[in-house]
Amino acid sequence: MKACTLVIFGGTGDLTKRKLIPAVYHLVCDRKQLQNFRVLAVGRRPKTDDLFRSEIREDLKNDAGLQLTDKQWADLSPLLFYETLDFAADTDGYVRLEDRICHMERDEDINARLYYLAVGPEHFTGIVQNLSDKGMVGRDNGECFRRVLVEKPFGTSLQDATALNRHLVSLLDEKDIFRVDHYLGKEMLQNILAVRFGNAVFEPLWNHRHIDHVKIISNEILGVGGRGGYFDHAGVLKDMVQNHLLQMLALIAMEPPVQLDPESIRNEKVKVLQALRPFTSASAKTDLIRGQYGKGDIMNAEGDVQHLAAYRSEDRVDPQSVTETFIFLKTWVDNLRWGGVPFYLVSGKRMRRKETTIVIQFKPLSGMQPYPEFGNTAANRLVFNIQPREGFHFAVNGKSPETDWAMEEVIMEYCQSCRIDNNSPEAYERLILEAYRNNASLFARWDELYHSWRFIDGIHQIWQTETPKFPNYAAGGDGPETPLPDDVWNEDYRSCD
Ligand code: BG6
Repeated sequence: MKACTLVIFGGTGDLTKRKLIPAVYHLVCDRKQLQNFRVLAVGRRPKTDDLFRSEIREDLKNDAGLQLTDKQWADLSPLLFYETLDFAADTDGYVRLEDRICHMERDEDINARLYYLAVGPEHFTGIVQNLSDKGMVGRDNGECFRRVLVEKPFGTSLQDATALNRHLVSLLDEKDIFRVDHYLGKEMLQNILAVRFGNAVFEPLWNHRHIDHVKIISNEILGVGGRGGYFDHAGVLKDMVQNHLLQMLALIAMEPPVQLDPESIRNEKVKVLQALRPFTSASAKTDLIRGQYGKGDIMNAEGDVQHLAAYRSEDRVDPQSVTETFIFLKTWVDNLRWGGVPFYLVSGKRMRRKETTIVIQFKPLSGMQPYPEFGNTAANRLVFNIQPREGFHFAVNGKSPETDWAMEEVIMEYCQSCRIDNNSPEAYERLILEAYRNNASLFARWDELYHSWRFIDGIHQIWQTETPKFPNYAAGGDGPETPLPDDVWNEDYRSCD
């Protein structure tokens, strides 16, 4: 296996300690899917390797809940290195960085590199420019690849994202750019294609003739925490919908790809994003609801009531902010397969519970109920539980035991995370592994981002003309009222907690 160095810009940041280093631990030390792999964390604060290692051990425990035994730590710590570099200002420092990486690589024949840009988007172009100027990217002979993983947010608007992309492709080959959307690394998102295309019962029904509507919901209990400075300029529309929710929508709505290779999959996803119907001022009035949390209460696991602050009182948030922390939108994919089927997207912060779920609601039996004895039968429903529980279930109707013909809804369920042997890899593990394997299907291509930004920009333009009345939902609740059909959540589905 070729040796590889993961060079992380933003090496002392939150993402590094909460997600990237734990992912490396699992990939290299635990699952042993990668060998000869090491991490060079690049950060502005001066530190030795030893200091970085001892700090990161504490961070893993406190921030990532990863408490390593001495034996586990002995496996991980020799893989971790640190280089001090002011990556924004110190252009010459990149020469030192290159020397350091070469020094680390000197014992290996084949040396591949993954550069991970875990920094604010304002630094992306500067870092890539420096890597390019110093000849640190672009030398791909197949094995000694130099791939660049770009964290989100990829831009803040269509114009900004286009400029960023133009800069990146002027310096890097498209095949070396891996635009991260960590939802694509989630195990159950990959299962969407498996369930759709691996079962004779679903694909023939996967269209407007049989599907009534689709709901894609991704809610969180957390507020904005320490990220108020970033979030107040983004809002949930750009933070969650532009990337994660639209990627889920694309996977649900896409046509079968010719093959399961990255380009075939991305070719089909982009057509869906291209077919999203833009909002107009009129449709925005009825089909778009934004919200912002006020203060509220939530019950913690111990049963104690916790008081939650309003969004406008959060750290580094404008006290008059009109940034949305909740969004509901009813949207349409205007093509032959999906004509007339609404897609409801919902995402909120400080909601009652954390959950990402996709509901495919089938149409009720057509015509009149064939047998009056059956009473009212529920329409069938296929539900993907993306997180925290992972699995999917199919709701069908069957006869209630000990009745003549009374019908009841029966849940046929696969709960992946309930399996005793199940220990699904975290999204970032998959992303690092697949970038190493050159599987770009778990990363967004530029044209996907172009069309999703175009859709999102359209909404923002409409919003410029109105001032919303915020706050309009209590932290820890269910968000503002929306015209969602049926229950958003049905506790009864959770048969397998
Ligand atoms: C990130 C957003 O992309 O996704 C965060 O920037 C959000 O605001 C996070 O909290 C949610 O990710 P997950 O995997 O916890 O659902």
